[in-house]
Amino acid sequence: MNDAPDGRPDRHRVFFALWPDDATRAAISRATRDVVGSSGGRPIAKERLHLTVAFLGELTDEGLEVARAVPPIPVGPFDLVLDAVGVWPESKILWLGPTALPPALGELETQLWDALVWRGFRRGGRDYLPHVTLARRARPVEAAVEAVLFPVRDLALVESFPDGRNVHYEVLERWPL
Ligand code: 2AM
Repeated sequence: MNDAPDGRPDRHRVFFALWPDDATRAAISRATRDVVGSSGGRPIAKERLHLTVAFLGELTDEGLEVARAVPPIPVGPFDLVLDAVGVWPESKILWLGPTALPPALGELETQLWDALVWRGFRRGGRDYLPHVTLARRARPVEAAVEAVLFPVRDLALVESFPDGRNVHYEVLERWPL
């Protein structure tokens, strides 16, 4: 990645996400501590936990401004129940997600991508699998977790910055749903 003369990156790795409040972060962390431990994976720090709605990839300054102009997507606030855990064998990601997708989250994802595509963004071919990544390089696990209630009130645009072996996330803007 190149840097602009003022030292800022001239590409922005960005995504739209549901960004939990502190209480929800604490609840996710508490409910999944044991399964993260038994997976042997590299845990994601509590302050980085999130649920991606639309991953945009590397954008120019101009692309970022176009993305920023897309919300709000007023589907209304909703509650998400995170009650399922698993490990995807290919990526070795240990994830927490909803067993049942609330219609509002499906609507949010569809309406957001429709608006993004209309403005020239390209959607990848993957199905949408809403999840919070808990750990990477995880071994398969067979476990149940106590359900976590995630009150979803807004949509965030987030930029990720490399930070040693990790990434650092910065919420650029939030829009009420
Ligand atoms: P992950 O945790 O399952 O890897 C920032 O990287 C966020 O965007 C993470 O939530 C990550 O999901 C997601 N992400 C990264 N690359 C992606 C891609 N190609 N398609 C969809 N989501 C992606």
